[in-house]
Formats: sequence, structure tokens, C-alpha cells
Amino acid sequence: MSYEGIKKPIDAKGRLGILIPGLGAVATTFIAGVEAVKKGMALPVGSLTQMGSIRLGKRTENRMPLVREFVPLASLDDLVFGGWDIYEDNVYEAALQAEVLDAHQLHALKAELESIRPMSAVFDRDYVRNIDGPNVKKAANKMDLAELVMDDIRRFKEVNGCERVVMVWCASTEKYVEPCDIHQQIGAFEQALRDSDPRISPSMIYAYASLKMGVPFANGAPNLTCDIPALVSLSLENGTPIAGKDFKTGQTLMKTIVAPGLHARALGVSGWFSTNILGNRDGKVLDDPENFKTKEVSKLSVLEEIFDPERHPELYGEMYHKVRINYYPPRGDNKESWDNIDIFGWLGYPMQIKINFLCRDSILAAPIVLDLALFLDLAQRSNMRGIQEWLSFYFKSPQVKEGLRHEHDIFRQLIKLQNTLRYLMGEDLITHLGLDYYEELMESL
Ligand SMILES: NC(=O)c1ccc[n+]([C@@H]2O[C@H](COP(=O)([O-])OP(=O)(O)OC[C@H]3O[C@@H](n4cnc5c(N)ncnc54)[C@H](O)[C@@H]3O)[C@@H](O)[C@H]2O)c1
Repeated sequence: MSYEGIKKPIDAKGRLGILIPGLGAVATTFIAGVEAVKKGMALPVGSLTQMGSIRLGKRTENRMPLVREFVPLASLDDLVFGGWDIYEDNVYEAALQAEVLDAHQLHALKAELESIRPMSAVFDRDYVRNIDGPNVKKAANKMDLAELVMDDIRRFKEVNGCERVVMVWCASTEKYVEPCDIHQQIGAFEQALRDSDPRISPSMIYAYASLKMGVPFANGAPNLTCDIPALVSLSLENGTPIAGKDFKTGQTLMKTIVAPGLHARALGVSGWFSTNILGNRDGKVLDDPENFKTKEVSKLSVLEEIFDPERHPELYGEMYHKVRINYYPPRGDNKESWDNIDIFGWLGYPMQIKINFLCRDSILAAPIVLDLALFLDLAQRSNMRGIQEWLSFYFKSPQVKEGLRHEHDIFRQLIKLQNTLRYLMGEDLITHLGLDYYEELMESL
């Protein structure tokens, strides 16, 4: 293999720890879900690593193994969970409170879930205004907080006999911050940690601790977190894969399925109005304008980049795109979204598409957490490090090398992911050209 020492992954031996900042709706649905699957109570629907398959070789070869049979992923039986939260509820209590999974289903998993208690969190109310809790670390400065998180990781690894660990951020969305000078170089970033600079968010502290320990890190929220040059260079130096940002679920998942289709058929779009009601704790956090701003930026860029209005001004130059999220407690985690899409076709004749998605946010997010944890672990065993763009498939706002255009089209993202797996395992990449089949036909004449 040629790309900077990337090699065929070594086998996944021993236990894999999955550490999660934020044991709320997504994290508890993920952990309870894996435990339910392990007990044979349910299927891991929505997880590409568990239920997806991948074509290998030519279509005529008929080789279509399951992804988990093709690449050496950690098995679900080898996963161990831990995490941090500002509340003291164990995972059973937190899952009950989140009201995503049925209480009777959770009851059957009570012993496993109760044993997972949150470690005390790195938290700053300046970054998340609408919640507060007692389970928070105290230290002289932000570097000391990072050291405490590193101690937590070491202890967790030792107590649970883990061979490897990955971290997936599932905590609340932090307020919007722009990258600035202290986020550029690792030296300046570390000095800012020692100075407790207010421009370093809690999620950056977890990410720094994770990368310092060589623990792969994925960011499920739209916060900057590891999407800053200082942490990208740390991840490269320490041979650690990173990926982000913002799990692609719900309305944005639909957008990246529908928009590439409209674009592919050169249909015009004059407007796309998206609105949501959401009643969980995430919705409450996003009710604060500064936290919503972070989410809005993440959600808005998707259509811009799929339609590329600068290249196609006649089709998309006038497109009006608006995204709204309203906190509406009665719905809990069962979000409802409406999209009104004004499109136009041949000779400019207008048409409309309405999408009303009654989705379950955490049900869509949980399999993403699983896949990211397993794929990041795989990446590390293949010597991959730094930004893992092939995992864009899972994110609303994929992290890419600075200056590189994002790829939001879910079908292209899937091709990239599958070709990366083929590449790692020494299989031919698939271009979908397919002319060779017809050549064979001509030769047989
Ligand atoms: N549910 C989805 O479909 C979805 C999709 C994309 C992104 N996300 C993001 O994933 C994250 C989790 O979503 P959720 O629905 O589980 O939210 P949630 O509010 O139920 O859970 C978040 C948890 O994080 C905790 N927390 C906040 N700050 C923390 C910190 N600094 N350290 C440790 N814990 C902290 C909170 O106490 C809460 O328990 C949010 O940022 C959300 O925006 C969710």
C-alpha cells in the first residue's frame, strides 16, 4: 500500500472500550441497543457495519459479503462502555429519562446499564447555557482538566481490561465559536489550556486528552472540537484517526438523499424551507440562540455544497434556504420535520415536494455511534491517522482537509467508504464503468 504507511488492518483482538462524553438520549440508546442486540432481543437496524453488505470484484463474481465478514471489526461481545456526564444518573436511569426506548425493554437490560455510571464531566456553562448539573470536575486550569480526563481514560482501560479505546462525543451542542490564533498550532493551544483561555471549549479538552493518549475521536455534535489545525496536527503526530462533525440523522439525512437526485437530473430548486419540532434535552439546549447558531451553520451548508449554485446559477442561483428548529417538549425525542421544496423543470415549470418526516432522532443516531466507533478502531489498526474523510457518510458537516470541498452527497460518500474498505483489504476499487462486461460479449461473437 502506498498512502503513508496505511496497511491491511491487524486483527481486532481483545476488548474495545467506547468512551462517550455525554450520556444522554443518543448515547444511552446506543449502549442499550448494543446490549439488546448482544442478548438477541433486537436487530442492529441502520448499522452498516452490522447489517450492510459490500460488493467485491465484478458483478458476475457474485461476491457480496456482509461488511463485518469482510473487514476485521471488533465484535459486539468485545465492546465495553463508559462515559462522562454533568448528571449523576447511571445509564439505566438516563435511558429511562430520555424516553427513547420502552421502559420494559430497558428493564430487561437493567443490570448491564445500571453498572455504567458517568465519570465527572468537564463542563462550562458559558458553552451550554440551558442545562446545569452537579457531576463536574474542578481543577486549577484547563490543562489540569485535560490531565484528569487522561487519568479517567487510563483507569477505564485498566479496570475493564481494554486492549484499545475510542471516544465519541455525544454531549450537548456547544455555542458557536470561530477558529482563532490559539487554535492553529499545538504549542499555542497547550499554552491556552494552561491559561484557561475562554476560547477553549470543554469538547476541545476531551478531544485533546483523547488524542494525547492516541485514542481515536469522533465528534457527533456540530461544535468545532477537533476541527482545528492544532488538534489535526496532534492527531497526525500521534497516529490517531479523527472524524466529525454532527451525526447525519433526520432532516439532513433526507436532504442528502433527495438533493443529489434533483441535482443529478438537472432539476432547478428555487426554495427549500425546513422546520422541525423537537422536545428532548438536545432541543432545550438548541433553544438558546448561540447554541442554535452552531447547528444552523452545520445544517445550512449541505444544500449549498450539493447544488453548487455558483456553477449552476440558472438552476440554484436564486435558491432560498431556511432551517428552523423549535423546542416543543410534548414530542420528546420523536422529532417531526417538514420540508417544503419548490423545484422547477423543463422550461421552468414549477413543482413542489413536501416531506413530513416523523423521525426518532436517537434511533437514527445510535447505529452511527456504533459504526463510527468500529470504523475508527479499524482505521487505527490500519495505521490511518488524522482526518478520516471516508467517514463523511455519517456526518452533516464532514471534516475535510482545509481548503478541500466537502462531499455531502450520501451516495458518493458511500462509494468513498466502500472503496476505502476495499483498498484496505487489497480488493479492486469499483469505478462502476462496466464496459468490460460488454467487451466480453463482443469477444464471444
Ligand atoms: N439525536 C440525533 O439525531 C443527533 C443528530 C446529530 C447530532 N446530535 C448531537 O448529539 C449530541 C447528543 O444528542 P442527545 O439527543 O443525546 O442530547 P442529550 O441532551 O440527550 O444528551 C447530551 C448529554 O450531554 C451532557 N453534557 C453536556 N455537556 C457535557 C460535557 N461538557 N461533558 C459531559 N456531558 C455533557 C448532558 O448533560 C446530556 O446528558 C447533541 O450535541 C446533538 O446535537 C444528535
